[in-house]
Amino acid sequence: MQAIAVLPQGLEEEGAKELTALGAKAVRPLRRAAAFEADMACFYRLHLQARLPFRLLREIAQFPCRGPKELYEGVQSAFDWERWLHPSMSFRVDVTGSTPELSHSHFTALQVKNALVDLQRQFWNQRSDIDLDNPDLCLHLHLNREGAVLSLDGSAGSLHRRGYRAAMGIAPLKENLAAGLIRLSGWDGGVPLVDPLCGSGTLLIEAASQALGLAPGLNRSFLLEGWADFKPNLWQEEQQRASRRERRNEQLPTIIGCEQEPTIANQAQANVAAAGLEQTISIQSNDFRNLILPEQPGIIVCNPPYGERLGREDDLEALYQDLGRFAKERASGWQLWLLSGNPKLSGSLKMKASRRIPISNGGIDCRWLHYSIH
Ligand SMILES: C[S@@+](CC[C@H](N)C(=O)[O-])C[C@H]1O[C@@H](n2cnc3c(N)ncnc32)[C@H](O)[C@@H]1O
Repeated sequence: MQAIAVLPQGLEEEGAKELTALGAKAVRPLRRAAAFEADMACFYRLHLQARLPFRLLREIAQFPCRGPKELYEGVQSAFDWERWLHPSMSFRVDVTGSTPELSHSHFTALQVKNALVDLQRQFWNQRSDIDLDNPDLCLHLHLNREGAVLSLDGSAGSLHRRGYRAAMGIAPLKENLAAGLIRLSGWDGGVPLVDPLCGSGTLLIEAASQALGLAPGLNRSFLLEGWADFKPNLWQEEQQRASRRERRNEQLPTIIGCEQEPTIANQAQANVAAAGLEQTISIQSNDFRNLILPEQPGIIVCNPPYGERLGREDDLEALYQDLGRFAKERASGWQLWLLSGNPKLSGSLKMKASRRIPISNGGIDCRWLHYSIH
């Protein structure tokens, strides 16, 4: 099948590498996505094991589409709907892209819905309900200059929700973005890892889960399990494959998170426990200025507040100055990776970044900055 992984902006290359490592073929990074080819086993595997995508879309049809009439007719003849969309199933339509005549995604989605329910009435004299939150089938229509691409979304909810994060602190990173940042840092479980401003602990939880080979999709259900061509045996094989661990928890080096707000530190602790990583990640409720680093140099990752959402810029300058001082005085030999949404503030570190990787964090233009601390 032809398929698309929807990815965070800035992580397209890294996402493409992950898809390839999990068996996808002909992987091509696009803007906020990667196109690939996969067999069914690989498509299942990606749902269970891929950490970076928001969504995985299985293409079912392409057709020319300039206006509403072509869309309506194209959708009706695109697929074997009689087999795939019985009126007892609810569905939802998501739309991305536009054409000059189909520029309102809400109207476009309604047109797709009408095409489908009209067809159902012809077949069965009944129609499906629309369910935006919990549908049985989720359709995705992408419009561009060449026409329409219709796909099935393997999961109704975004794949970044792993299920371990009931408590979210303030301004948490999405789990898939955190996983991508860790991959960019090159941390592979060989040296200590510290997040001195850990919030709800997302960077550390994703890092440890990745290094242990804990599959993010094992404890969830997916819409693809209800598809007309679902293959339960193949799915079970892939679930077994995904449950094989790469390492045991005690084989990882020290991983420490530090958070000054006690309630947020407690939330981080609860998330760590929910992810099954209590023996692996220790959370300290502390100001990072009092943090004692492990002796063996490792990697510091962090996502300090940057003004857009948290704290005032003037108050934050002192925090960045102290973070720079902390790094230089106490982290000699370590690597520092910092997600910055404000160049003025990262300037207050008074350190020179050796890499600056553009990343969009919920629409905020950020840089994942790398510093080698001498
Ligand atoms: C942007 S949030 C981090 C979010 C985190 N990456 C997550 O995914 O939840 C920054 C965190 O730094 C914490 N913080 C601010 N000043 C601190 C300090 N001096 N020491 C430790 N933590 C601090 C804040 O309470 C906040 O939770």
